[in-house]
Parts: sequence; structure tokens; C-alpha cells
Amino acid sequence: MDPQTVTLVRTSWKSVAGIAPQAAALFYQNLFAADPALKPLFRGDMEQQGAKLMQMIGAAVGKLNDLDTLVPILQGLARRHVDYGVKDAHYDTVGGALLQTLGQGLGPAFTPDVKAAWTSVYGVMAGVMRDAAKA
Ligand code: HEM
Repeated sequence: MDPQTVTLVRTSWKSVAGIAPQAAALFYQNLFAADPALKPLFRGDMEQQGAKLMQMIGAAVGKLNDLDTLVPILQGLARRHVDYGVKDAHYDTVGGALLQTLGQGLGPAFTPDVKAAWTSVYGVMAGVMRDAAKA
């Protein structure tokens, strides 16, 4: 992965990780506003779910230069998501909500370069997951 992309994503993630519970809550607010039909897929405690999501994104951001490790983790995650009822199109909705949340959380630090870097990284992660879900 392009080193500049990795640096931009890692640096901006540090700011978001510092407000992880708020960022996670905002993310689900954005997600359910974008598509209320996704709400019933989430059956567990949303605070715990938010913490798991933030932890997984953090782990992925840490492994962007170690795709041999990251890809199988994402493939396993994707297969579990099939059981949660997640469909291919949902990955775009989640990507939109993620970018929206990053924009809200980072404010002026969400520059066009940072946005492009996150778009690229989410695209890679979602691409691996979508492929694994189809396989
Ligand atoms: C890069 C993309 C994504 C990441 C990193 C991610 C991360 C996670 C993690 C870490 C969990 C905890 C359970 C587990 O590890 O199996 C989880 C559960 C879940 N995710 Fe995702 N997810 C992603 C995409 C999506 C998408 C596109 C949807 C569609 C709405 C979705 C809906 C769910 C649901 C419904 C659960 C189960 C919640 C429950 O048990 O109540 N996720 N996700």
C-alpha cells in the first residue's frame, strides 16, 4: 500500500481512537440514519459492538503494511458477517457512514488527502471482505 496513504490513515486514526466511544456512537447514528433497515441486524449491546468495531479498525490500520496477516483476518470477519445477515451493498453504506464520521470527528484535519487515503483503505478492506463473503 502507498506509504503516504498509510501515514495519513494512521495519523488521523490516532485522533479518532482518542475519542473511540463517541466516534463509535456517532458512526452507528450515521449508519442508521443512512439506512434504518440495518438496525435489526445488530442484536447485541451497541457499546460493546462499537468497541469491537473500533478495535478491529485500529488493528487493520496497524497491519496495512502486513497484508499477509491482515487479509485472512478480514476474510474470517467477512464470513461471520454473512451469518449476521450482511449483504454486499451494505459495505457501501458502512463506508459512507465511516467517512462521514471521520469528517465529523476530525473536522478541519479531514483534508481531501486524508479523505482519499481513508477511501482507499476502506475500499481495500471492504473489497477483501466482499470477495470472501462471495467465496
Ligand atoms: C471494514 C468493514 C467492517 C469491519 C471492520 C467490521 C467489524 C466488525 C466487528 C469487529 C464485529 C464484531 C463481531 C465479529 O468480530 O465477528 C462486527 C459485527 C457486526 N457487524 Fe461489522 N464490520 C464491517 C462491516 C460491516 C458491514 C458492511 C455491516 C452491515 C451492516 C456490518 C454489520 C455488523 C453486524 C450486524 C454485526 C453483529 C452485531 C451483533 O452481533 O449484534 N459490519 N463487525
